[in-house]
Amino acid sequence: MPAALIDRLRQARRVVFFTGAGVSAESGIPTFREAQTGLWARFRPEELASPEAFRESPQRVWDWYAWRRSACLAARPNPAHHAIAALQRQWPDSVLITQNVDGLHRRAGSVEPLELHGTLHRLACFACGRDAGDWPENPPPSVPRCACGGQLRPAVVWFGEALPAATLRRAVEASEAADLFVSIGTSAQVYPAAELPLLARRQGAWLVEVNPQPAPLSALADLCLHGAAGEVLPALAASLDLGCVDSPGASL
Ligand code: OAD
Repeated sequence: MPAALIDRLRQARRVVFFTGAGVSAESGIPTFREAQTGLWARFRPEELASPEAFRESPQRVWDWYAWRRSACLAARPNPAHHAIAALQRQWPDSVLITQNVDGLHRRAGSVEPLELHGTLHRLACFACGRDAGDWPENPPPSVPRCACGGQLRPAVVWFGEALPAATLRRAVEASEAADLFVSIGTSAQVYPAAELPLLARRQGAWLVEVNPQPAPLSALADLCLHGAAGEVLPALAASLDLGCVDSPGASL
């Protein structure tokens, strides 16, 4: 692990971890934009992930999210999720911002991740917007209804929708205050989330990118760690002698 990074980590007070689909790739959950394997290579987002799509065919959208949710429930947090949770315990002021809706950070023990794009595990009313609680254990095969009569939808952000305002505000504040910002497994192409590393960098944070492939952020990063999150993060945590990392023997 580069000595400059270890120094930065030891000195840092306000650390932001910012994750995208790549952090869950090693749990078997597909990313979005990777050729062949990405979800958007196999499905059309405008048919599944927009208010218009839900209006046109609620059942199709419901079934697709139900399928994705059961795949996420069957998956397990990987060493990257566990290492991030261990690193967070090291800095009580650290903040985890995720674009992922899979819930794996929480299951790895990360407390209060800022879920910018919502979560697959809760429902909201498409008509009145009310929070409709957890996705039921045994969901009905057809789209359930709210007390107001509206149809329930997954509590995720769709194309064309605003991000949850309070969550975005906290993410912006944390990014502006960060002295170290670690971006992990995101192509950083979807705004406003993709603005956060830029914001942090402009305010003076040291920017680290973890990604096996060069991504748009690579040119701006102070340090790029080219590797899989499930190897790089445990190695990083191990280099700080942190316990509770579920990856025996990981090294770079
Ligand atoms: P993308 O699919 O755009 O990018 C995934 C990134 O993860 C790519 O840069 C890969 O190189 C990288 N990657 C793949 N395997 C990895 C591994 N093992 N370790 C580390 N990195 C790896 O996914 P996101 O950037 O998360 O939005 O996409 C952002 C948003 O676009 C998603 O939240 C979703 C989507 O449309 C909504 O659903 C609102």
